[in-house]
Amino acid sequence: MVDYRKIFVHNRRWAKRKRTLHPGFFRRHFNKQKPDFLYIGCSDSRVSVEKLMGVDIGEVFVHRNIANIVSDDDENVKAVIQYAVEVLKVQHIVVAGHTGCGGIKASLEDCSKGAIDQWLQKVKKVYTKHQKRLEKIEDEATMLDEFSKLNVLEQCQNIAHLDCVKKSIANTGFPIIHPWMYDMSNGLLHDLDKNKK
Ligand code: CO
Repeated sequence: MVDYRKIFVHNRRWAKRKRTLHPGFFRRHFNKQKPDFLYIGCSDSRVSVEKLMGVDIGEVFVHRNIANIVSDDDENVKAVIQYAVEVLKVQHIVVAGHTGCGGIKASLEDCSKGAIDQWLQKVKKVYTKHQKRLEKIEDEATMLDEFSKLNVLEQCQNIAHLDCVKKSIANTGFPIIHPWMYDMSNGLLHDLDKNKK
């Protein structure tokens, strides 16, 4: 069994180090948060927001679910986006998919009825929409990663259609919505928006 107590040992060491190197660090963050980013990504344990973006506490507002879905019937993600846009006024919303996504793969398989299956229907909808293009790709892993990319682009569109986002963009020009893919095989992050450098 994993010794969960090691988490607390690490935590005490980390907090002490922060306090020593950056006096006032916790007090400053306790008073308010002003992140520049909202990150929406997959729950996969191998995708660590802080590590892959190189950010610290207070820099990113985060929402994660299986296969990074933004669905109009999901009050959870919609509340996160509304809060990020209207209250935190984030300038960037990132949707980050990743290669080798288990949720993407599972959406094409028969699995047990229940919450997982219900959730995966939202992912499968994206496949159905792009089925003609995707079924032409013979290699399964390549097809699944392409499906992941299309899923990210689709979720970015879903964000762009939300009232709070449309209103904010009309008034301030923000947020900018970024489709990103994280390649688990080499740790590299890619911007799917070809117009950006
Ligand atoms: Co995933």
